[in-house]
Amino acid sequence: MAHGDSGTPAVGTPAAGAASAGTTEPILEVRDLVKHFPLTRGVLLRKQVGAVQAVDGVSFDLHQGETLGIVGESGCGKSTVAKLLVGLERPTAGRIRYRGEDISTLSGRALKAVRRNIQMVFQDPYTSLNPRMTVGDIIGEPYEIHPEVAPKGDRRRKVRELLDVVGLNPEYINRYPHQFSGGQRQRIGIARGLALRPEIIVADEPVSALDVSVQAQVVNLLEQLQHEFDLSYVFIAHDLSVVRHISDRVAVMYLGRLAEIGTEDQIYEHPTHPYTQALLSAVPVPDPDARTQRDRILLAGDVPSPAHPPSGCRFRTRCWKAQQLCAEVVPPLEVPAEFREPAGPAGHASACHFAQERQVVPSE
Ligand SMILES: Nc1ncnc2c1ncn2[C@@H]1O[C@H](COP(=O)(O)OP(=O)(O)OP(=O)(O)O)[C@@H](O)[C@H]1O
Ligand code: SF4
Ligand SMILES: [Mg+2]
Repeated sequence: MAHGDSGTPAVGTPAAGAASAGTTEPILEVRDLVKHFPLTRGVLLRKQVGAVQAVDGVSFDLHQGETLGIVGESGCGKSTVAKLLVGLERPTAGRIRYRGEDISTLSGRALKAVRRNIQMVFQDPYTSLNPRMTVGDIIGEPYEIHPEVAPKGDRRRKVRELLDVVGLNPEYINRYPHQFSGGQRQRIGIARGLALRPEIIVADEPVSALDVSVQAQVVNLLEQLQHEFDLSYVFIAHDLSVVRHISDRVAVMYLGRLAEIGTEDQIYEHPTHPYTQALLSAVPVPDPDARTQRDRILLAGDVPSPAHPPSGCRFRTRCWKAQQLCAEVVPPLEVPAEFREPAGPAGHASACHFAQERQVVPSE
């Protein structure tokens, strides 16, 4: 196994083929990432009575210059993955390697140096910007932590440059967040994310709080910046259409685990996991002819609590194909045997014992 320490197949093996892309070394390797939040009882003794299994064994690669989309319903662990990647949370177990170096165990200066290269853009431009700070101070704040990137005398020039890069007037440097629209605020958030010239940006629902008309502009800006600065993105959203538009590869998450991962075409046109198929079948289709042709799947029941996830396959309580095996054995995230040779578009990793290709959205 090329990556040694994990139970998850390494990149390049048939089992993990579609969890990675290309032949270059990944810029980020995530292996068996786990984050459990303790559930405690009692005010003084705070006895642990269980754990919220927010992330429970997530593995994927991110390659230079690519966008990996992560989709899934509310509470499936997307933001927790994002926070683990940028170091806002510490993993309970698992590895995050940046350019081959394990950053999940780093601390102090070494961690700080690496973290400079992995920045986050947050969902809500209304609450993530401090209303009492000027835009100049907000965008320049990362320089306080990393003065080596911009000496004090040079900061305002750099901030003006960043405003220009994200399509805002550099003259707005002394304004406050409330003087901007939602889309403009998200541009400010993106400028702050770019301040340290990172290589990776983890964008957690960056357009979800914006009007639909503004979403496309912000997505286009992110794409333009990606080319300009050779950025790699982890782009998180629950809107499957937005994710399809921006992503090279897509990972579908369910209750703390990945259900399926592959190229945008593999996931949208050739999904093999029942959960992906159900999610896709709920995506609105504007064309009435396409609507009548499509295969609709209604998901039964609610998402179970991550404090008490089902045994075996976590999707089994809502899956119309579930059998006894699904309750007993966790389906590994691998290319299903029948799709390996010859490898067609269905030949991507899917965590289902009974993976089957089924097209649910009309072809583009
Ligand atoms: N600090 C925390 N303490 C305890 N539980 C947490 C904490 N942070 C997240 N959780 C729980 O972990 C699970 C995953 O949460 P997370 O925010 O990662 O989901 P998400 O996929 O980003 O959801 P959304 O689409 O609503 O943003 C949820 O059940 C959530 O309640
Ligand atoms: S492993 Fe079983 S329960 Fe899980 S998605 Fe596949 S068929 Fe459904
Ligand atoms: Mg979230």
